[in-house]
This record gives sequence, structure tokens and C-alpha cells, in this order.
Amino acid sequence: MKKIALGICSSISIYKACEIIRSFQKEDYEVQVIMTENATKLISPRLFSALTGRRVIVDLFKDEFPDEIAHVELAGEVSLLLVAPATANMIGKFASGIADDFLSTFHLAVKCPVLIAPAMNEAMFLHKQTQANIKKLRETGVRFVEPEKGYLACKDEGWGRLAPVEKIVDTSFQLLHRSQSFAGRIFLITAGPTREYSDPVRYLSNPSSGKMGYELAREALQRGAEVILVSGPTHIIPPPGARIKWVQTAEEMEREVARFFPKADVLVMAAAVADHRFSTVSSQKIKKQKKPKTIHLVPTPDILQKFGKKKGKRILVGFAAETEKVEENALKKAMQKNLDMIVANDITKKGTGFGSDYNQVTLVFPDGKSIRSSKRTKSEISAMVMDVIEEKIGKGS
Ligand SMILES: Cc1cc2nc3c(=O)[nH]c(=O)nc-3n(C[C@H](O)[C@H](O)[C@H](O)COP(=O)(O)O)c2cc1C
Repeated sequence: MKKIALGICSSISIYKACEIIRSFQKEDYEVQVIMTENATKLISPRLFSALTGRRVIVDLFKDEFPDEIAHVELAGEVSLLLVAPATANMIGKFASGIADDFLSTFHLAVKCPVLIAPAMNEAMFLHKQTQANIKKLRETGVRFVEPEKGYLACKDEGWGRLAPVEKIVDTSFQLLHRSQSFAGRIFLITAGPTREYSDPVRYLSNPSSGKMGYELAREALQRGAEVILVSGPTHIIPPPGARIKWVQTAEEMEREVARFFPKADVLVMAAAVADHRFSTVSSQKIKKQKKPKTIHLVPTPDILQKFGKKKGKRILVGFAAETEKVEENALKKAMQKNLDMIVANDITKKGTGFGSDYNQVTLVFPDGKSIRSSKRTKSEISAMVMDVIEEKIGKGS
């Protein structure tokens, strides 16, 4: 599918959209232009329809094609939504989930990667609200081509100038290339905590929110994989397109992994699986007066260990949440469990890890090599993990 959607907003740098369109056409891409109503006040849509040979979409309620729900139909046809130039207004609308015109509605309808190239004056770009909106969108997996410092239309030097067209187009092609890199591959990803019950109302668990696993699933989907997501209980929304298998306990998780492992190409165990469960589980609530003085715990199945033995040609990735000797312990785990990579994080660090939108990790490989990340969003960390998997798949693992 060689078709992209180009959102064009009412920025002074709107004229650069012509060059962007040409660059995609040179690579045989069809470009469907979507303009905001305000953008049409700066340049006539006629220019873009002449360049693309297609009707430019502006209005959500166009009478011309009353039977079509164009934003939904088009969402299934494009491999990328690029917004260039993007105004502060549109970035704010995207960040808040507002859908009051075609472009902002379309943003919520697409499953393909979204890339935004902002352009505005320095004060607007550096405004706390704009920066908060950009941060929020990054956390949902939206990518940005950062604007540059330079001469602005307001006759000032400063941040906010639209990134060079070549940079916007190169980043777009990177995302487009990626969107096919896992085509035909099946990813089995586990996420979230498990719960080990002692009775119907009490359980052993941990603070995992599932965010890391869900971001990994989203990233694999964006690269064209079929994703089976085995998830413990969480309060977050699963990425659209993933096949979800809900579980509570480690044993249930093991059962689901066993069911899908034979056809999986990649297993990523991001779930925080409880190591122990209660030796007995009461079917009735245990009364206060009958509360046992001691509790007996038994180990839960070691899912990674078990499937590491049956690895075959699959790629196996584990996670290690550690409080000390993080990389040393992670390396041991990677070797013991026959993993291709382990993602280690130090859970004592504030502002990352469990429940946070951020993580700071080291990718540890069984040969002792490692790659350290800075503190980044879980979406960025998942891109880093998938880049390594992509390289391994490319080498025929
Ligand atoms: C000539 C002109 C140039 C503008 N350039 C920009 C710009 O570069 N970036 C921006 O965020 N807003 C710019 N604005 C303000 C936006 O057009 C305004 O916020 C508008 O409501 C955005 O609408 P839209 O996001 O639906 O296109 C400009 C306005 C005018 C009149």
C-alpha cells in the first residue's frame, strides 16, 4: 500500500508542503491531502489537488459524497499520517483528543504511524502548554520531526521553524519502511502483573501497570506484526489491533503462552509475573477469626525458563526489574533462560519503571554486550527494543 495522508494546517510555512508532496511522488507514493479550513485561507486547495491529482479533503460533512464515511475509509488505506506543517492549535487538538474537523477526527481514526512536523513562532513553540501537548502525544506513540532554530516569518531568529523538507521526508520513509518490517511475523507479548489469590478477595501482586508491554505491542503492530497480547489485570486501554488474552494468575499466563508459543516468531515477556503463589486457595472468603498464623507459598511456573528450553528459531526477550547489581543479575538471567536479550531496569530509580510513562533501561545480551538508554518514554524504549528485534530478524534469527 503506497499511500500516505498529508495533513496541512494554517502555518506560514504551508508553501513547503508542495515540496513534501513532490518528494513522496518521486518514490511512487500517492498523497491524499487533508487541509484545515484555516489552511485554505492561506492557499487554495486547488494548488494541492493539481499537484496530487486528487480531491483535497477539508470538510468532514461534504455533501459531494454523502454515502462515504471518508475519515474511516481513508484510515484503512494509508500507511502514514504526516502533518506538515502542524500548527500549535492542531497539536493541542490532537493531544486533547478533540475531533471537530476532518484532520483531528482522522487522527483518532488511524492505526498507522503518525508523524508531526510543527511550525510556529518561538513563543508559541516554547509555551509550556505546547510543550506539554507534544509530551502527551509522544507518550501515545506519535512521532515528531523537531522544528529548528532559524529565521522565522515574524522576522525573529528562534525555535519553531519547520524542519527541512528532506528531514521530514527521510523520517517519514523510516517510519514507512518500519511499518512493514514485521509483516507476516507473529509476536507473543505478555504484559502487566499477575495476581495470586489466597481467597476470592485477597491476592499477591505487584505495581506493574502493563504500560511497557502495551507499548511494545503497539510498536510491533505499527511495524506490521500480528500481535497476541497476554495481559494481566490493568486499567489501561490495549492497543487497537492486538489480540488480547486476559489472565489473572501466573499459571493462566503460562497456559496462554503455551497455547500460542508454537506459532510465535517472537516472545517478549514484559509481564511482572509473581514468583510465588499461596499453596492453597480458599473458594470462600477467609474470615478474620480464621486467619492463619503462617502462610505457605509455593513457586509459580518459571515461564521464561520453560519456553527458553523450547526456543527453536524464535527470538526470546525477557525483562528484569532489579534493585541491585542490575546488569550483572540481568546477564545471569539471560544466560540461564536462553534469551536473545533482556531489558533490565533499576526499579529503585524515581520517576521510571512501575506505573510510570518513562523508563530507563539497559538491553543486555547473552554475550555480555549491552546498550544503555537514557530516561525515555516507554514508547521510545519499545522502539529501541523492536529495533534490536528487527535487526535479529533481518539476520535470519
Ligand atoms: C499568516 C498567518 C500565519 C500563521 N502561522 C502560524 C504558524 O506558523 N504556526 C502556528 O501554529 N500558527 C500560525 N498561525 C495561527 C493559526 O493559523 C491559528 O492558530 C489557526 O487557528 C490554526 O488553525 P488550524 O490549526 O486549524 O490550521 C498563523 C496565522 C496567520 C494568519
